[in-house]
Amino acid sequence: MIQLPDAFCGGRSANCAPVAGEIKVTIDGIEISVPKGATIFQAAERAGYTPPHFCFHRDLSIPANCRMCLCEVKDQPKLQTSCSTAAADGMVVAFDTPRVKEAVQGVVEFVFKNHPLDCPVCDQVGECYLQKYYMEVGNYDPKPIEKVHKDKVKDLGPITLDAERCVLCSRCVRFGEEVAGTADFMIAHRSDHSEIMTFDDRPIDSAYALNYTDICPVGALTSNDFRFRKRVYFLRSAKSICPECSTGCNIYSDEVLFHAGLRFDRMSDTLSSQEVRRLYRAIQEILQEAITLAVFVPFAILYMGQPVKLDYLWAALCIMGAVYFVFRG
Ligand code: SF4
Ligand code: SF4
Ligand code: FES
Repeated sequence: MIQLPDAFCGGRSANCAPVAGEIKVTIDGIEISVPKGATIFQAAERAGYTPPHFCFHRDLSIPANCRMCLCEVKDQPKLQTSCSTAAADGMVVAFDTPRVKEAVQGVVEFVFKNHPLDCPVCDQVGECYLQKYYMEVGNYDPKPIEKVHKDKVKDLGPITLDAERCVLCSRCVRFGEEVAGTADFMIAHRSDHSEIMTFDDRPIDSAYALNYTDICPVGALTSNDFRFRKRVYFLRSAKSICPECSTGCNIYSDEVLFHAGLRFDRMSDTLSSQEVRRLYRAIQEILQEAITLAVFVPFAILYMGQPVKLDYLWAALCIMGAVYFVFRG
């Protein structure tokens, strides 16, 4: 397992190691100092460039299996994965070269080979790493091929799995094993037929299940609560404090406009229990009750003052208003 220096992960990850001195690395012509033991990826981030990545996540182990973060290291004949290669003093690294771009473009093309054309209906649109990297390094003429089809729309309880959209980064597998301790996912089969699935196709019954939707860089794992509710770019986001317990963790809450609800999906610190992420339900109920009252009370007051002929009309309007606001969520 790669050990990241404390300076980068703040001691939160099992991958952290104490910092022991600084080294100098040159990234695309920029010389920077990084703690000893840092990876090239971390050094690049410090130099202001985040290499494309699917499998790397600062709180998880580093398998280097997606091959998206490739770089050229001076005097090394082959391209290296920057997330798993330790930086050394005096190392000269380049990301912005035709060789690296061609290699990463090849990786993206392999990922897209069997990827479905689901973007118009995919909940990940607007926060999808694959879309982002396709626009940055893809944009080639794809060759039509016969795709391998995998499981689509598999209901796993709080989340839905679409194995065709999966880029096999293994983040969910590692999150289950290393963080949640529930080992919910595995990668089965080989080659093009490799597929993410739960053991025995079991639904996920874990307190951290909804974290999978944040960990997944694409739309393979989506929250059933949020599915098809709203495009993420229509959400209004605000920094907030989690009200669930006395720890007071920082969170982002995403307001779903015109829906009297909130999406507690994007947490500032990766982990948060399902109860926290579903707090929006309680808030939604309170808001709906408040709106119902706001509509019902004026109608009721008007009703009291109307002549008998309008009785049925007012009564019907009151009931329709109440039913609409109760069931619209
Ligand atoms: S995962 Fe990303 S690229 Fe794939 S369908 Fe969804 S939005 Fe599109
Ligand atoms: S489901 Fe998502 S997190 Fe899991 S391996 Fe596939 S892309 Fe990665
Ligand atoms: S991010 Fe480096 S190989 Fe996946």
